[in-house]
Amino acid sequence: MSENKRASFGGKLSVILVAAGSAIGLGALWRFPYIAGKHGGAAFLLVFLLSVLVVGIPAMLAEFAIGRKTRKNAVGAFREISKRWSWLGYSGVLCALFISGYYYLIAGWSLEYLVSSATGLLYNSSLPFTEQFNEFQGSYRPLIYGIIFILMTYFIVSRGVEKGIEKASNVMMPMLFVILVVMAVRVAFMPGAMDGYRFFLSCDFAEAFKPETIMMAIGQAFFSLSVGMGCMVTYASYFKKDNNMVSTSLNVSLLTLAVSVLAGLVIFPAVFSAGLEPTEGPSLVFVTLPEIFKGMPLPSLWSAIFFLLVILASLTSTISFHEVLTAYTAEEFKLSRKGGALVTTGISIALSAVTFFGLFGVDFFTLFDNVTANMLMPLGAMFTCVFVMWFMKKGFMREEITNNGECNNRVVGVLLFMLRFITPLLIFYIFIKNFL
Ligand code: PFF
Repeated sequence: MSENKRASFGGKLSVILVAAGSAIGLGALWRFPYIAGKHGGAAFLLVFLLSVLVVGIPAMLAEFAIGRKTRKNAVGAFREISKRWSWLGYSGVLCALFISGYYYLIAGWSLEYLVSSATGLLYNSSLPFTEQFNEFQGSYRPLIYGIIFILMTYFIVSRGVEKGIEKASNVMMPMLFVILVVMAVRVAFMPGAMDGYRFFLSCDFAEAFKPETIMMAIGQAFFSLSVGMGCMVTYASYFKKDNNMVSTSLNVSLLTLAVSVLAGLVIFPAVFSAGLEPTEGPSLVFVTLPEIFKGMPLPSLWSAIFFLLVILASLTSTISFHEVLTAYTAEEFKLSRKGGALVTTGISIALSAVTFFGLFGVDFFTLFDNVTANMLMPLGAMFTCVFVMWFMKKGFMREEITNNGECNNRVVGVLLFMLRFITPLLIFYIFIKNFL
């Protein structure tokens, strides 16, 4: 596609909502509260905040700069600047494939729960929620709902950048904030909510500053901000030339942090109020929360609202990694946009089926999750920083993020210093330390 014909996102707010839509998803609503609860509560929050500031934001800016400069898909973008670095784009595409292998399936669980809440089945059944969850997992429905989720994503992505992605994010993101705030206020009035706040916000610094925990926080920052895998390169290829990318990255990060904290403030008080254990991952949201809604007036309604929230947040994220693959296949293999989206959809369905049926007894959920968040994304981000600061022509990053000096301020100097030295070295250090 030529420079003039290439689509672009509209105004400043749209750009923020689209990028925040990618960032805010299962990572903030599902992954963050559980990891924070397990690794030091508020102290983890502090380490997460530092990770976002020191590694997340600079790396996001590096991706923005590459994407907007080249206006190409992840692979095309790196290749246009330097053929020797195109592998970084491929690493992003690989990462998007791995994420496609499990993310749709988990997102699909919320579809099942929305349907069973809205029809009343979830609350009228005589089976306990754990057994309902196990029964669901033992059926073919997770795969079916996963495929429906992929098709919903396809529907939006194939409509194009402005009519599909931008429009969807502009409607869904504000809805998500409203629902989340209503939920946070609602749980605050539940008996025993205080214990939840205490659990989530108690500080355990010894736990939070272990290298393993710092790696988790960095991994969470990358996963949650969708950085380290070419997603922001792809989205920034649709930014307008005058977008203030420093302010965009700060806004997106702030919104992601706010939603992560809000999610914790919804889930933990609710879990404690029902006298349940803040247990790991899937069960935290899908088994314990229905237990809580059951004790409230109009359980089906609250429950349906909550799962709708998870669906909206997940959908704006699935759109973004689908777009990484769609832009790549369409541009690199000279297909139409619809064609690229179709190929991506087919591959996503195949990968989800592999994860669902499990091959050779491998747990693909955990494997894909760990390999992406704790390996590919941090390394991808580290090399992207090294690339823009050490291999690009001097001044490239400064020119890009200040729009050739138009929006210069003091933060820029600090960000450039971090990008050159601190961010890559810190990722490298923690990565090595975690493996030794
Ligand atoms: N940031 C998304 C979330 O937190 O759920 C996940 C994600 C989306 C990761 C897009 C990577 C990506 F490219």
